[in-house]
Amino acid sequence: MKERITKNEQETIYLAHQLGLLLKPGMIVLLDGDLASGKTTFAKGIGLALNIKETINSPSFTILKRYLTPENKLYHIDLYRIKGEGYDFDLEDYIYSDAITVIEWPFNVRSLLPQEYLLVKFEIIEEFKRKISFEAVGEAYEKVVYYL
Ligand SMILES: Nc1ncnc2c1ncn2[C@@H]1O[C@H](COP(=O)(O)OP(=O)(O)OP(=O)(O)O)[C@@H](O)[C@H]1O
Ligand SMILES: [Mg+2]
Repeated sequence: MKERITKNEQETIYLAHQLGLLLKPGMIVLLDGDLASGKTTFAKGIGLALNIKETINSPSFTILKRYLTPENKLYHIDLYRIKGEGYDFDLEDYIYSDAITVIEWPFNVRSLLPQEYLLVKFEIIEEFKRKISFEAVGEAYEKVVYYL
C-alpha cells in the first residue's frame, strides 16, 4: 500500500500521469471514493500518460467511454448510476480486454470485480486536499505500486 497527499487538481493529475506510464494493456484500475473526491480528475491524468488527446470527462450518463489511439486503448467506466446488476450490456467484455480500464464507483456492481486489480482510494481531507492510496491485488499490480 502506498499513500500520497495532493494539494490541488494538478497534483492529482500529475500523480495519475505517473501511474499511467506504468500501466500495461489489460490492466484494471478501480477508483473508489466519495463524490468530488477526484476520481475523474485522476482518470484524466491516466489519459494524458496514454497520449489521449480527447478530453476525459465524467462518463456518468453513458457508463462507458472508449478512448483509442494507435498505441493505447483506455476504457473509462462509471458505475455511479448502476446499483446491483441491472445493466443492459456486457461490461465484462470491456473489463476483460486488452485495454486499460478505469472504473469509478466499482463497488456498485460487485459481481463485476475482477480477481486482480489496482485499487485507488480517494479521501477528501480539505477543500483542495486529497489522500490517495494505492492497493495492489495481484503480482503485476504490486509491481506497478512498487515503482510508483
Ligand atoms: N487535490 C485535488 N485533487 C483532485 N480534485 C480536486 C483536488 N482539490 C480540489 N479538487 C476538485 O474536486 C473536484 C473533483 O472532481 P472529480 O470529477 O474528479 O470527482 P469524482 O470523484 O470523479 O466525482 P464523482 O463521484 O461525482 O464522479 C473537482 O472540482 C476538482 O477541481
Ligand atoms: Mg467522476
